[in-house]
Amino acid sequence: MKVPDNSNVVIFGASGDLNFRKLVPALYHLFSTDQLPARFFILGVSRSAFTDTEFRQAISSQMLKIEGMDSQRLSEFMEHLYYLSINTADEHDYGRLKERLLALYEQYQAPHNTLYYLATPPSLFGVIPRCLAAHELNKEAEGWKRLIVEKPIGYDFESAVALDDQLHQYFEEHQIYRIDHYLGKETVQNLLVFRFANGMFEPLWSRNFIDYVEITGAELLGVEERGGYYDGSGALRDMFQNHLLQVLAMIAMEPPAAINADATRDEVVKVLQSLRPLSDHDLEHNLVLGQYTESEVRGDTLPGYRDENGVASESRTETYLGLKLQIENWRWSGVPFYVRTGKRLPTRVTEVVIHFRPTPHPVFSQNAPANKLIIRIQPDEGIVMNFGLKKPGAGFEAEDVSMDFRYQDLGETKLLSAYERLLLDALNGDATLFARSDAVLACWKFVAPILNYKDGPMALYGYACGTWGPKEADALLERDGRRWRYPCKNLTNTHYCEL
Ligand code: NDP
Ligand code: BG6
Repeated sequence: MKVPDNSNVVIFGASGDLNFRKLVPALYHLFSTDQLPARFFILGVSRSAFTDTEFRQAISSQMLKIEGMDSQRLSEFMEHLYYLSINTADEHDYGRLKERLLALYEQYQAPHNTLYYLATPPSLFGVIPRCLAAHELNKEAEGWKRLIVEKPIGYDFESAVALDDQLHQYFEEHQIYRIDHYLGKETVQNLLVFRFANGMFEPLWSRNFIDYVEITGAELLGVEERGGYYDGSGALRDMFQNHLLQVLAMIAMEPPAAINADATRDEVVKVLQSLRPLSDHDLEHNLVLGQYTESEVRGDTLPGYRDENGVASESRTETYLGLKLQIENWRWSGVPFYVRTGKRLPTRVTEVVIHFRPTPHPVFSQNAPANKLIIRIQPDEGIVMNFGLKKPGAGFEAEDVSMDFRYQDLGETKLLSAYERLLLDALNGDATLFARSDAVLACWKFVAPILNYKDGPMALYGYACGTWGPKEADALLERDGRRWRYPCKNLTNTHYCEL
């Protein structure tokens, strides 16, 4: 990867969870592998009162918990880290931010190239750009200015449009990087290479040969400490509207003319705009929502969703979503995509399964099941191809066998974490792996009828922790003569996995 030109990072929300757990560790790892520029500083900004030294100590003590941390390298990194306490919502305080930045640019003899990272509550996503602009901190005369905006980008279509308008008042689209950390995952990026660098898959990649597609984003954990946020969000907004629709777009998109931000994102948005709008009738039959209930798992009692901290006792927020949807274009017409996501399922696994059509005429007394391609995004990252092989011995019976590739077979290769890759790309000015405004709006447009419907007549089914969601979600496929794959942590394990 290219080492960025001298540039700096300002993190708003520096005292928060995301910065401590993900952003600073990602920046440290880039630093320790010589992927950050020679001259750079990181300025953390939030309201909490820290001096530079106190902030460095707080971050250090968190980082030293990471196994194998090199304390010498860490203290070298810490010398690049600074902190400023301001009220991030108050325009007047940004005068002090400007002064501090000018002093740091001077101290580092650095160009004014600056990446602003908005890791604050979303209510500030529109406010911070306005405050920056009031002090001309968005101006690019002496160096580029870029803005990473965290999720959620809006709460629904209307609020996403409003946020976009606010951002565009002060920053141009080419300066705005909307993060979806799934796009930073190596295995999600590999969907492009797998599909478009191999001649053998692309001819099969359409309604002519594909029967249906499954996309699963399962989580073992519940809402943990984020009940307050999650209760206003739910699986639909938290996982489906962004991460899973982005994965779906990578599976379904046409080959881009080139791998760059415009060409790639042009193809992504075409898929999202081709999702067949869902009517109430579709939703009645093709959507299943669930919520986990208090359950005994291996002798432990796990709390139900409504008993989690920060969750309303009568909450109707879904922690599970299963949906059948269609893409209306030449490539995919008539091919169902079944998508599911949920918390407190039997294991943490994200994967895509491409089910190929069965052979047109069974000539053997026993055919193997139709071919399957399993693309595992996490964990045990890899790809498995299932196909039929002659069962050794007399006769001509076919049995199901598989060929697999696992990233772990690459040996020493260390995969960059999603935040490392995305921070590096933003510093290099490459927006290919960031969501563009039109794609975000297309996702919200598709989701809008689901949001309406779920607030109305929609049933919400309970499911026990450690199971694959409500049984009604199984019916979603069984009705079509199909069944979900029940993946295990181990990619090639085909047994039904339940806690
Ligand atoms: P936290 O609540 O842990 O941190 C919020 C940060 O914003 C703190 O530094 C807080 O510091 C600062 N802040 C500034 N103004 C306000 C204000 N008016 N009210 C509350 N906080 C304020 O949140 P997270 O770090 O978890 O999340 C930050 C953003 O990242 C959110 O948009 C979230 O959706 C997103 N995100 C987080 C993930 C995670 O794993 N944590 C994953 C994906 C996205 P101070 O009070 O000192 O000003
Ligand atoms: C976040 C969601 O965006 O993604 C979380 O807010 C979810 O609720 C997380 O747990 C899943 O990410 P990953 O990378 O662990 O699959």
